[in-house]
Amino acid sequence: MKRLFLAVVALVAVTISASAVAIVPQPLSISKHNNTFVLLPSTMLVCDVEEFAPIVKYSQEYLALDHFAKVAPKSNYISLALDKSLAEEEYHLSVSRDAVQIVAGGYGGAFYAMQTLFQLLPSEVYTKQMRLPAVVKGCDVKDKPKFAYRGFMLDVARTFMTKENVLRYIDYIAYHKINKLHWHLTDGQGWRIEIKSHPRLAKVGGFRGGDSPINAALGKWNEKYGGYYTQEEIREVVAYAKVRNIEIIPEIDLPGHSTALARIYPEVLCKNADGTPRKSGAVVCATKESNYILLEEILSEVCALFPSKHFHIGGDEVNMSQWKSCPDCSAWLKKSGYTDGYKLEDMFIGRIQAILAKYGKTPSVWNEAAFGGGLSKEAWVHGWKSPEICKQVMAKGYSTIFMPQQFFYFDMRQSKHENGAIWGGCFDVRKVYSFDFAKEGFTPEEVAQVKGFEAAAWSEVFLSQGGDKSIDFIEYQTFPRLCALAELGWGKNGGGEWQEFHNRLYKNHYDRMADMGLNFRITPPNVKYNNGALTIEKIDNSAIYYRMEGSDKRSPYRGAIRTSKPGKYLFWAEYRGAKSPEVAHSSHYKTLKPKVTLTSSLKAQPKYGYHRVANYDMNMRVAETYKAGDWFLFEFEEPVECRSIEFITGSHAVLSRLITKGYLEVSHDGKSFHRVADLENGRAKLLNPKPIKAARIVATDDDVPGATIRLCSPIIYPKW
Ligand code: ACM
Ligand code: ZN
Repeated sequence: MKRLFLAVVALVAVTISASAVAIVPQPLSISKHNNTFVLLPSTMLVCDVEEFAPIVKYSQEYLALDHFAKVAPKSNYISLALDKSLAEEEYHLSVSRDAVQIVAGGYGGAFYAMQTLFQLLPSEVYTKQMRLPAVVKGCDVKDKPKFAYRGFMLDVARTFMTKENVLRYIDYIAYHKINKLHWHLTDGQGWRIEIKSHPRLAKVGGFRGGDSPINAALGKWNEKYGGYYTQEEIREVVAYAKVRNIEIIPEIDLPGHSTALARIYPEVLCKNADGTPRKSGAVVCATKESNYILLEEILSEVCALFPSKHFHIGGDEVNMSQWKSCPDCSAWLKKSGYTDGYKLEDMFIGRIQAILAKYGKTPSVWNEAAFGGGLSKEAWVHGWKSPEICKQVMAKGYSTIFMPQQFFYFDMRQSKHENGAIWGGCFDVRKVYSFDFAKEGFTPEEVAQVKGFEAAAWSEVFLSQGGDKSIDFIEYQTFPRLCALAELGWGKNGGGEWQEFHNRLYKNHYDRMADMGLNFRITPPNVKYNNGALTIEKIDNSAIYYRMEGSDKRSPYRGAIRTSKPGKYLFWAEYRGAKSPEVAHSSHYKTLKPKVTLTSSLKAQPKYGYHRVANYDMNMRVAETYKAGDWFLFEFEEPVECRSIEFITGSHAVLSRLITKGYLEVSHDGKSFHRVADLENGRAKLLNPKPIKAARIVATDDDVPGATIRLCSPIIYPKW
């Protein structure tokens, strides 16, 4: 029996060719060979480095190894040793028939060596239920990261994520050798961290909608929802991350993005121009001394919870008009001889910096706060606007973290017809991977100054997916884009060829992500139409399915489809439950733009008037809060014949700023109207309607006071 077993093991071992070694992110150097190691239930984990004890425990969970020793036996072991001559995150890993031997320069290196080992094993390792024996592919790895900062920003303020989901995320990013979690804990829409000296901040400010003073704004209206982390939970998350070599940098976003804070403590706001108290606003008054007392009480508690020396204090997108109309703030500017509101921001940041210094912390800020002159050179600056801004920040001498929205804001949609925001760009994993310092005009000397990369999962668009789907959607938006970011941060040692990276991704890493339990996005296949035949060009090894427009029936794609109406077919790729978006021939997406006039009972904002909707420029903004009975009327010059027409209130990218309750009525003669649909998520879609001469959207509820909505151009698809 034993002999048979060993024979099977040997067979498995030889059928795994050395070329199958494919690590993400690509190690600095890897030499492949055929000496595989076979992991058995009897394999010994060997380590005598006290500091590595958490890694031993962590690894045992994944590798199902019970045997541990401080001294190596003759063979059949995995050893973990320290070599101080290596850098902290550097490691060497060598596989032989007798052992897997790891030496690392420190905790980080040992942890990442273990991640590399996971990737040399069957992807089942991530399920923590790997069957043994298991083969470790043969190779020798010498590895270290190029950039010290490889980060991921999680915005739990706009969409609350439970502690359990945050822990899951920490696992996902740790598998990819990401070493910083920038935790965006507060924003206009929510306050997510318990502050014991000011309990209402989280208990009230952690929730929106219903009776909360914070408006439900981004996708849910009729119920109260949200959450926050207790200090106990924060400590647990910090400890969990530490085991996984992740430093958590908390963010309390100041002085802008502070609506949640101001809804709990309106006194933090500036005064009105006439000196009366302001009731709403998003910016903390920079000249009120009491604000610095309050902020020290808050920040000192947060400082105590996070061991990181770095503390992100925001500094982005400050609405300077709130300061300029404040008698005290404007007097400060005048007295100091400034007209520029950024000087006031600089003063504010300087005050907060001094508070942080008392607690041993240095500030991290968004790029807007780097140009006033007062920010300490020890500060880390997160460059989000553009590569050019990052260059300017670096020229000021700051440690700069690259996260330009055009490459690294993962709330942006990945192709034109998918969900997600679009204001910062529309890109998939390939564009992330294509980021190239040289192409962006950076010299090698400048690159040497770069602290690292960070991706941001801003979550306004996540919430509007609804319920559990939000979490699936965060994963879909993040992976595999984060794999590309990890590879940039590690140094893109593969040479930067997209095809080479994509091969590793779909041939090896898709299986890993599936076993990690991720809802990752698959790059869609290419749709071709030639000589009456619709064909699919596969770009990976996933299965292709299709359906007809208007039907849910799925069919496997088996070869060319002969049709004169190629746009009716929708295709997608699937791999172990993960999916690509649906794609179709270009004719599917063709829309009509018939001449239309738009009138309304509501005034538009001058810069975003009704003409934008009538010109099919997508989005207009309403200047007043709507009430039941308010309406929008679309009158078409000619009756519109179409296979579908959709009327959309709200933003086009996110379910927000829309009419919550209302209906659509249409007229075929331009005179008599009949009600055809209720609005659902602010929208109404008609399939194969009779030619439409006019359509009217009518609200049946009142919006929350002060809120203003948006309206999009109708989307009209021609008849086939
Ligand atoms: C930001 O996107 N406001 C940092
Ligand atoms: Zn003020």
